Amino acid sequence: MQSGFAKDGRSFAWLIHPIDIETFFRDYFEQKPLHVTGRSLDYYAEIFRPEDMEDILWRNVHSPSIAVASKMSRAISAPISYVGTSEPWWPGEMYKDRHALIINGIQKHIAGAGRFLRGIEKFFKTSGHLNLYANPANCQGFPPHFDSHDTLILHIEGIKRWMFYGQHATNPVHTQLDSKLVPPSGDPEMELELAPGDFLYIPRGHVHAASTSDSPSKHLTLGLFPSSWRDLMDMALATSAEYLDDSLRASIPLDASRETIATTLKEHFLALAQRCNDDVFVEQARTRLLLNTIDQMQALPDHHLERFDDAGTLNEDSIIRKRDSTLCAAFMHQGEAFIRFPTFTATAMVKGPAFIFDTLKFVEETEDPFRISEMAGSMNSRSKLILARRLMTEGLLALPR
Ligand SMILES: [Fe+2]
Repeated sequence: MQSGFAKDGRSFAWLIHPIDIETFFRDYFEQKPLHVTGRSLDYYAEIFRPEDMEDILWRNVHSPSIAVASKMSRAISAPISYVGTSEPWWPGEMYKDRHALIINGIQKHIAGAGRFLRGIEKFFKTSGHLNLYANPANCQGFPPHFDSHDTLILHIEGIKRWMFYGQHATNPVHTQLDSKLVPPSGDPEMELELAPGDFLYIPRGHVHAASTSDSPSKHLTLGLFPSSWRDLMDMALATSAEYLDDSLRASIPLDASRETIATTLKEHFLALAQRCNDDVFVEQARTRLLLNTIDQMQALPDHHLERFDDAGTLNEDSIIRKRDSTLCAAFMHQGEAFIRFPTFTATAMVKGPAFIFDTLKFVEETEDPFRISEMAGSMNSRSKLILARRLMTEGLLALPR
């Protein structure tokens, strides 16, 4: 199977191959761990090779993105006992003491890792983080615990043993992590060994621990925060409060009785439920959730300086493309059309009159290169050219390379 870091979610299909996406969601997602094994040892070479570790350490000797896995079940940077000691490089000393070294945000160091993460984020329409764990021999990183994010493990080097102690909570959220440390009662329900090229999925809420034996190991951990119904309800409520229902913004009377509060809460919930019969409202809430995700993203490396040169060369027959794995959203707001997308440093937004919405939606939904004059919508070719130049200068579109 081709590895292809896809614009359309193929990278997740590649990640779990030979398990198919339908089987994953039916039998494993949010239910039980999945172990995929028996693939080539260098399956993840486009994302991370063991030798990349040296480059990253060399460039980040004093970087705060380096931490260690402590036995207290949390990642720590510069532990107090190593501050001011004779050891100039505390991560090395900690590694020597059989602590796992963690490098957070691997996608910021390696372009292939960035493209891979974006492919997964685009597929799940949510943001994630990608961290490297380097374990010395005979090391247990975190003690048994559960997480509030789904965990995807890409095993790179060596052998690591994983222990599972069952589900502690169903899809827990971050605020439920008070009891994240779960002392195992009895033997693990399941144990397995990860070898290079293996993949492991751990649903959030499942208690797990891992350790190396007589050899060191390296793996990438992708933490994924899928959007939940509660997240969407938050967006629906915020949309209603900000644009549609003044009463939601009124303060709660200081002397309100418990009965009044219950009655008023019920009225608000009923009004919100009623609003969900309106397709436009539902779409607004859904878009808002997507915009939150886009706002957390950064553009991938992709000829960003050339866009200023290229925009001036465009004509109506030019073929252009959306940047690699760019998650963007076109939407209407108060009678105007918008499109929002990540750039190098922040989120960019281009807006215009309502009649350009269909063209912006076309850009959002089109993954293959297209001719400017053939963009959908009622704009004439000249207007489409002006819009294409603007979207290229802002960083959403580029020439095919
Ligand atoms: Fe974990």
